[in-house]
Amino acid sequence: MLPGEVQNNKLQLIGKLTASLIHEIRNPLSVIKLNLDLIKLEDNLSKDILDSVNDSLSATNRIEYMIDNLLSFARVVTHGHEHFSLNKITSNAIDLLAVKANKYGINIVTEFDESLSQIYADKNKLLQILLNLITNAIESYNKDCKGDIIIKTSSSEENGNKKIHWSVKDSGVGISEDNISKIFEDFYTSKVNGTGLGLSVCKMLADELEVQIEFESKPGHGTIFKVTFDVNRMRKLYEATNTSN
Ligand SMILES: Nc1ncnc2c1ncn2[C@@H]1O[C@H](COP(=O)(O)OP(=O)(O)OP(=O)(O)O)[C@@H](O)[C@H]1O
Ligand SMILES: [Mg+2]
Repeated sequence: MLPGEVQNNKLQLIGKLTASLIHEIRNPLSVIKLNLDLIKLEDNLSKDILDSVNDSLSATNRIEYMIDNLLSFARVVTHGHEHFSLNKITSNAIDLLAVKANKYGINIVTEFDESLSQIYADKNKLLQILLNLITNAIESYNKDCKGDIIIKTSSSEENGNKKIHWSVKDSGVGISEDNISKIFEDFYTSKVNGTGLGLSVCKMLADELEVQIEFESKPGHGTIFKVTFDVNRMRKLYEATNTSN
């Protein structure tokens, strides 16, 4: 077995273990929540007790939010590689996040290169990456800081190296110098309700898809995340899996 395959098998196993562990956490957690709700219904609770119960309820809600996120990551259903339109899958991702963008009062603008050739990748894995990056762009805004999100697709060619580019640009809070090295770490988050897994998952899926993720950020001005597809690499991958011998 090749080292990459061992790593893949380990990841699959961890995915399965995570999914079943999360399942096991869910039931006792709902019992705790139910009991806390029941205690809240009691008359004559002192303020201290009520505060403690409310704190415990928020903590259980946070655990629930985190395991929901973990479950959705562990459950990325894959269909293998196929040809599809990057513009179309981006529109799908934007549709899925329309309600969230609306809630933040954010306008998502697209600048699609309509002449882009199709890409060859695992659609669901790529969708997961796009969803996480657009979600982060939306969440980079707060009530004092509003603006558009610009999602762009384009292509380039240098010395026969054809690339397809995807980017999401926000003018949100940006990432401070100190945090730039941390954002891809598991569980690193600067958000009250974040799990800090979004970008770790993006990195894992991008490695699997052999696509590159880079970013540039200016605190107070915004951030751009770029995904680059190597057209020759995708062609080779297609030929390797579809050539009969
Ligand atoms: N577009 C962005 N603008 C500003 N900060 C960002 C952006 N994208 C990522 N970050 C920073 O990187 C951190 C890690 O992002 P990541 O997506 O991994 O986790 P999260 O968004 O905090 O939580 P979740 O697991 O719910 O995605 C964020 O908490 C934030 O500090
Ligand atoms: Mg995130």
